[in-house]
Amino acid sequence: MTTLPQGSFLSRQDGQLLLEGCDLAGLARTHQTPLFVYSKAAMLQALAAYQRGFAGRSALVCYAMKANSTLAVLQVFAQAGCGFDIVSGGELDRALAAGATPSNIIFSGVGKTRAEMTKALQVGIGCFNVESQAELDVLNGVAVSLGLRAPVSIRVNPNVDAKTHPYISTGLKGNKFGIAHEDVLATYQHAAAQPGLAVKGIDCHIGSQITDTGPYLDAMDRVLDLVAAIEAAGIPLHHIDFGGGLGIDYQGDQPPAADGLWAQLLAKLDARGYGQRQLVIEPGRSLVGNAGVCLTEVLYLKPGEHKNFCIVDAAMNDLPRPAMYEAYHRIEPLQPRSGMAAQTYDVVGPVCESGDWLGRDRELAVAPGDLLAVMSAGAYCMSMASNYNTRGRAAEVLIDNGQARLIRHRESTADQLRLELPLNAKP
Ligand code: LLP
Repeated sequence: MTTLPQGSFLSRQDGQLLLEGCDLAGLARTHQTPLFVYSKAAMLQALAAYQRGFAGRSALVCYAMKANSTLAVLQVFAQAGCGFDIVSGGELDRALAAGATPSNIIFSGVGKTRAEMTKALQVGIGCFNVESQAELDVLNGVAVSLGLRAPVSIRVNPNVDAKTHPYISTGLKGNKFGIAHEDVLATYQHAAAQPGLAVKGIDCHIGSQITDTGPYLDAMDRVLDLVAAIEAAGIPLHHIDFGGGLGIDYQGDQPPAADGLWAQLLAKLDARGYGQRQLVIEPGRSLVGNAGVCLTEVLYLKPGEHKNFCIVDAAMNDLPRPAMYEAYHRIEPLQPRSGMAAQTYDVVGPVCESGDWLGRDRELAVAPGDLLAVMSAGAYCMSMASNYNTRGRAAEVLIDNGQARLIRHRESTADQLRLELPLNAKP
């Protein structure tokens, strides 16, 4: 049996897997599978590490809701005083529906539309993190036409290697994100001269699932060099937004703790006289990733000449990370079997693609009907789920103070068909 992910609130009692003390097999029986189950206590514990790190400072944690944007999850963070990092008009609507304070919302992303800018300006979000000069000019025009000034930060691409998967590394020159370090000052000067823009801060985000402290420290140095240059040019910056990206334990990974990382970053800020500056961060995965599991039932065992397959009822449409990034998620039986020899399986879903796998070469002692937990499934699983193969998206349950509550119904085929217009439909 492998170890349980750090910070997950998972435990075993008489072999049975529990989340925050709740019997997961019972939840699977009640709500069927695939089923996502999250622990609120795990989310709040992860948040507390950041809050400890920022004790005595002025800091706003803006939860990067792309990691998991289910309404009840957003409510957990809104009620804990978090702001939100959004990347679309849809995320803005969700954040507001969850009770977010508009001024605590920051809007990231390279492709904001005029309609999204308009809505965000009208509700009064805290800051736009702007990623190109072209976007800056469009935002200025939209704000002027509304008689408003858009609060902006410019996202800096510090050209730092976050040493993570290339698809989730964002702070290198070859990435589409941010404005190159050498162009940043001129872009600020341009922004400061626009009637529809109010410069608020500076922003940087170098990637995701970062497990090394080094890239963060390097990026902070580069950002602080820019802060000094921008302020020397007469443009004051109210806040420093240092993005998200902190990794979690998927497979024994050992990322720094949030408070330990920030102790080092704050020492840098202090040394350069910026220690009391307003700070903003945008963590996603590190707040929710290890707060959730995906429960799935073994449908069939299929022995093969080269491989044995364990076919389960969850698939790449529910949990796309292995298919997309060859990501590793621990997979464990909810109730381990004694007296059965383990075999090596590829754990695969029912979707008609060879890329539909959840785990490769896993040692499991299982039989059809057994329940498995795919771990570390709180971030970038449900929020990236699709309807591929006309599979309804899974149901979700939140354990709140030891009590399980359904927070999303399983999607039916009727839900999927609702927006479609068959050829015989009346126009
Ligand atoms: N801020 C910005 C501007 C971002 O682009 C992201 C993530 C975050 C914050 C939050 O990063 P986090 O703390 O969650 O690492 N789907 C991929 C991850 C994509 C991350 C995209 N940006 C995965 O499943 O690994």
